[in-house]
Amino acid sequence: MEALIFNVLAETAAKTATEIYVIGGFVRDLYLDRPSKDIDVVVLGNGISFAEKVGQKLKTNVAVFKNFGTAMLKHADLEVEFVGARKESYRANSRKPIVEDGTLEDDQLRRDFTINALAISLNQTDFGAVVDPFNGLEDLQNKLIRTPLDPVITFSDDPLRMMRAIRFATQLDFQIEQTAVDAIKSQKERIKIVSKERITDELNKIILAKKPSIGFNYLFDTGLLELIFPQMAKLYGVDIIKGRAHKDNFYHTLEVLDNICQTTDDLWLRWAAILHDIAKPATKRFEEGHGWTFHGHEDRGARMVPQIFAQLKLPLNEKMKFVQKLVLLHLRPIVLAQDIVTDSAVRRLLFEAGEDIDSLMLLCNADVTTKNEYKIKKYRNNFELVKQKLKDVEERDQLRNWQPPISGNDIMETFGLPAGKEVGVLKNAIREAILEGDITNSYQEAFNFMLQKAKELGLSPV
Ligand code: CTP
Repeated sequence: MEALIFNVLAETAAKTATEIYVIGGFVRDLYLDRPSKDIDVVVLGNGISFAEKVGQKLKTNVAVFKNFGTAMLKHADLEVEFVGARKESYRANSRKPIVEDGTLEDDQLRRDFTINALAISLNQTDFGAVVDPFNGLEDLQNKLIRTPLDPVITFSDDPLRMMRAIRFATQLDFQIEQTAVDAIKSQKERIKIVSKERITDELNKIILAKKPSIGFNYLFDTGLLELIFPQMAKLYGVDIIKGRAHKDNFYHTLEVLDNICQTTDDLWLRWAAILHDIAKPATKRFEEGHGWTFHGHEDRGARMVPQIFAQLKLPLNEKMKFVQKLVLLHLRPIVLAQDIVTDSAVRRLLFEAGEDIDSLMLLCNADVTTKNEYKIKKYRNNFELVKQKLKDVEERDQLRNWQPPISGNDIMETFGLPAGKEVGVLKNAIREAILEGDITNSYQEAFNFMLQKAKELGLSPV
């Protein structure tokens, strides 16, 4: 398919005597062996009218974005975007006319990074030749993110590029050239003019990379994190009182995040790892004779989740609820692993975690970041024990997605009660008796238990 589209593009270029090049991400990804479905074509001339000619030839509709001076068409699973070569940095909302009289090199110069400025000719004279005036190929080799222009200008032109630099460094495991890092530090405040959605889009791409800590370290070191996600930046640092230090929760969080990335691609489970200790700074206390404590950080953290999601324009839906639940419960399996595991504790955990129990166990496992071999071994052994217990209890009691065998309706009908406090009391008592293991998870035992409890409350069946 790609070969066909390139032929059509080249034919149209020859016929209309227009110079065109493939440019940007497609070329970069070709060299990196990363298959790409988005083809950007730069046209020395009018991008939109060239696109329309290609569209006629392929008998395909062309979507025209007049404000941006670009046009796009789909061909099989490929998306081809056309843009005229420009002299200036484009500004999405600028009222200035787009100047399309640039040379190829003008256009390459105003792109974000040298590795994104590579072009391949689709012209008859040198079809397939690489045009690389800023040594993008060398930077690909050296795994370096570098800007074609002075980075201060590149980032100030479009501050989202600061996030993009860090995102590409994370996805590709590249380094950002020091002068570009310094430019991010000096231009960081400009990030405020970029929409939250676009920032979070890049942040999520960092989080979905194989090793997100690369990106978060850059975000923190440049000062961007403090601006876009201050709650996370607050995790940084160690306090020492009377010679006792606590661990640095920023680096601990990054370790947990990298750990969980080895076991899941789920963005929301990865977010749960980022947020699991988010309330540690707010709950930190030094207790005499005890040392540092973070009592209630799981509960406080869960309550911080909606506000953080809203601030970052993340969805306020069941994904948020999932993250919230995991933050709230993240200590529970490890507590079970430390203590002697009772059936009732396992049943409670299963009941509260429901279908998210496997995700919770992954988070809990990722949370073990101690370097102490003895402790690791102990945790792993106990963890296996908890897993086995979970399996046993689940097989026996089937508590995942469990509903108690007697419903509120059953209670109202049996005792002729209206909806109200007494129904709630009975319902709770039945659930607690089952979770505690006082009665089994069966209708008959629950029914008998209900009758007995109701009698204590002075109620009798109708
Ligand atoms: N570009 C730029 N500045 C931006 C965004 C994009 O200079 N803020 C240029 C780069 O040359 C980039 C091309 O436009 O390669 C296409 O951008 P985009 O599709 O956003 O990114 P890709 O590089 O294709 O990478 P990805 O698909 O991973 O986002």
